[in-house]
Amino acid sequence: MALSLNTARMSAVRPSATLAMAAKAKAMQKAGIDVANLSAGEPDFKTPACIVDYARRALEERAAHAYTNARGTDEMIDAMRAKLRREQYTDYGVNEVIATVGTKGALMLAIDALVGAGDEVVLFAPYWVTYADLVRLAGGTPVVVHTKREHGYRPSPADLERALTPRTKLVVLCTPSNPTGAGWTEDLLRTIYARLRGTDTWVISDEIYERLTYGTFRHVSPVSFDDDARGRTLWVGGVAKAYAMTGWRVGVAAGPKPLIDAMITLQQQRTTCAAAVAQAAAAYALRESPDVTAAVEEMRRTYEKRRTLVLERAARLPGVAVHPPEGAFYIFLDLGARLPGKHRGRDVGDDVKLSELLLDEAHLALVPGTAFDGPGGLRLSYAASESVLEQGFDRLERFLAELT
Ligand SMILES: Cc1ncc(COP(=O)(O)O)c(C=O)c1O
Repeated sequence: MALSLNTARMSAVRPSATLAMAAKAKAMQKAGIDVANLSAGEPDFKTPACIVDYARRALEERAAHAYTNARGTDEMIDAMRAKLRREQYTDYGVNEVIATVGTKGALMLAIDALVGAGDEVVLFAPYWVTYADLVRLAGGTPVVVHTKREHGYRPSPADLERALTPRTKLVVLCTPSNPTGAGWTEDLLRTIYARLRGTDTWVISDEIYERLTYGTFRHVSPVSFDDDARGRTLWVGGVAKAYAMTGWRVGVAAGPKPLIDAMITLQQQRTTCAAAVAQAAAAYALRESPDVTAAVEEMRRTYEKRRTLVLERAARLPGVAVHPPEGAFYIFLDLGARLPGKHRGRDVGDDVKLSELLLDEAHLALVPGTAFDGPGGLRLSYAASESVLEQGFDRLERFLAELT
């Protein structure tokens, strides 16, 4: 027998580096090793009890046991539209929204619906791992704009100009960003949209971290700018991060009807719908009753406190530079000045080798920047308790003291 896979398709996609690192760290913990795991891209909080209680009640009714419309339940459609009106200052019709299987599901459906062979998709590196793989799976070509820490991981108009061609089908924005935590200003977003005016280029605006912002930074959604911006943008968000609901797998997308229709057709044939009970929980979360708002704000304040700790500890690491994150729960450690190096006589050529040694020897899990097209960096997640963060920085400090 010569059973084979579709190698052409499978060569376009890599296993998720973030999930791989988290899995390795968890396996070591299971084997009894005390790993400081700062690799996870998910809240270390449980879903707020009020949301779980609502889902439990929904399960007692038949509605939450059954398939739903591919767009989502009526309750979910109402909740998504109300949220977008309240927070994005934008009215979306019933035909312009969809609930998906995680935010990742929305991105997958949209990129499949939009991108084909010969299409270019602009990504701003360091970017969240999945974008490039989804673009390649759809047959498109990622065109990467490398942003710099010194510039707050924000591109200049000239950077964008160099990336745009007549083949640019789509630009993917992610603010606040995974993996850098960088939040982009309204001015920058308006500059990007001004440049796109008159083109046939779509935008996906991934705003999954919109609620997790710190200090004076205020998140602004480009769909609130004007009809041109709203008309070329798929707004993408979800419940995973702000409401600590990663495992419920519900995402939200809003945009022009023809794109949403295409996503619905794809969803019908792929997964049918997001799980009914999870949609009930997500709808309750998105409605933001006072108990939900209080829970979200408490988690956000906790991240903000940890961010202060992380910035203090990072400032003490020689040769390591950071951009203070405006949002999300990540900090991107720039070790460019320390690499390549040697640790106890061994070559540490790059961030991938460094993260392997940190895990194997210092029992500290961080994600290598190369996974995000940000070589020379390490992503640290502060969705972890203060004691684990302190422990992680102690280990990193000791390791770096021996990196010459
Ligand atoms: C920027 C970004 N977009 C989308 C997602 C996917 O979110 P979900 O868990 O809702 O699929 C993540 C998860 O890490 C993310 O960081």
